[in-house]
Amino acid sequence: MKTLKDVSLAGKKVLLRVDFNVPLDERGKVADRTRIEAALPTIQQLSRQGARVILVSHLGRPKGEKLVQYSLKPVAEVLETLLGQSVRFCDDCVGESVQKVAGELRNGEVVLLENLRFYKEETENDPAFAQRLAASAEAYVNDAFGCAHRAHASTVGVTQFLSPCAAGLLVEKELNYLGDKISHPERPLSILLGGAKVSDKIGVIEALLDKADEMLIGGAMAYTFSAALGHAVGRSLVEPDKFDVALAAMAKAKQRNVQLLLPVDHIVSDSVDFAGRSVGTLRTVKENELRETDIAVDIGPQTVALYSQTIADSKTVLWNGPMGIFEIPDCAAGTLAIARAVAEAPVVSIIGGGDSIKAVRESGYASKISFMSTGGGASLEYLEGKVLPGIAALDD
Ligand code: 3PG
Repeated sequence: MKTLKDVSLAGKKVLLRVDFNVPLDERGKVADRTRIEAALPTIQQLSRQGARVILVSHLGRPKGEKLVQYSLKPVAEVLETLLGQSVRFCDDCVGESVQKVAGELRNGEVVLLENLRFYKEETENDPAFAQRLAASAEAYVNDAFGCAHRAHASTVGVTQFLSPCAAGLLVEKELNYLGDKISHPERPLSILLGGAKVSDKIGVIEALLDKADEMLIGGAMAYTFSAALGHAVGRSLVEPDKFDVALAAMAKAKQRNVQLLLPVDHIVSDSVDFAGRSVGTLRTVKENELRETDIAVDIGPQTVALYSQTIADSKTVLWNGPMGIFEIPDCAAGTLAIARAVAEAPVVSIIGGGDSIKAVRESGYASKISFMSTGGGASLEYLEGKVLPGIAALDD
């Protein structure tokens, strides 16, 4: 894959695909800058080299409609502050206004174009739209790792019309951490998977059992494993149609000598109110001691201790997914404790998934994590070993 090191872009108009799909708050302001900050090194390197940087991104899923609440304008304001240089904003991503602003750019200047998904042709990977996108530029750089699993006009189609097509620094870094550092890890490699559903993580579990020394399961998906083993899970969330997948994963782990750990104690309640973000009275119970009315909402203290020790004894840790119903503050303790354990362990630590990253930030230890992936779906697909179309489309 060609990277910034292999191309010379000084004086060139570079179409730079970034993932500025950031959350906005109720006032329409950027609520989390992580993805904007992650794109800065590539923007700055291109700008320093004297490239004329034309940034493109999507925001949300406006499905071809020009909806003001999905405008990238608030992102341009934040970017300007972070870069410490003026960032122009163009209220379209194709057409005459783009040609004009791109033509006026001087070396090192930056413009952000309006949301690509205001055109349905973007997600349809429409060749004519891709050609219109390419029309304002002379070269292409993709630094939108979070969108690399999407075969859209701005990630795949456009590469037919521009040359060179190179990867940005963030894409390189993501592939290094989620690829090399997991495929050729410093061992032991512990993989910690959480979240609600086994069905969301089947591919990842399968693929990572080939690489891990330990796999630690948390979150509601642990109860599909427990229930498949015939353990009492009360009214915890389980996917009965995934019992076979859970049993096959446990058999594979045994056969490959991977230690697959399930929670040994649980925080349970008899009611959960997701909308009100509250739970009934909480109790701590041991493995297999859940009553019929109990709903598991978090891992218990013994599980935190067991998982934290396993993490501390590792050399590489990959963590994706919360250990409990993290969005309800009373059920967040297990996830926060694990965030702290990962951060404090002297390991190469790689974190993916919005809730795990949020937990690390809330625990105040984010700076101690080796790498936090900006990709949600993209990082899971990459870990599964799937080819990411946005990466495959770049020059070799
Ligand atoms: C993400 O947030 O995972 C990426 O920006 C991709 O967004 P999408 O799922 O709407 O394609």
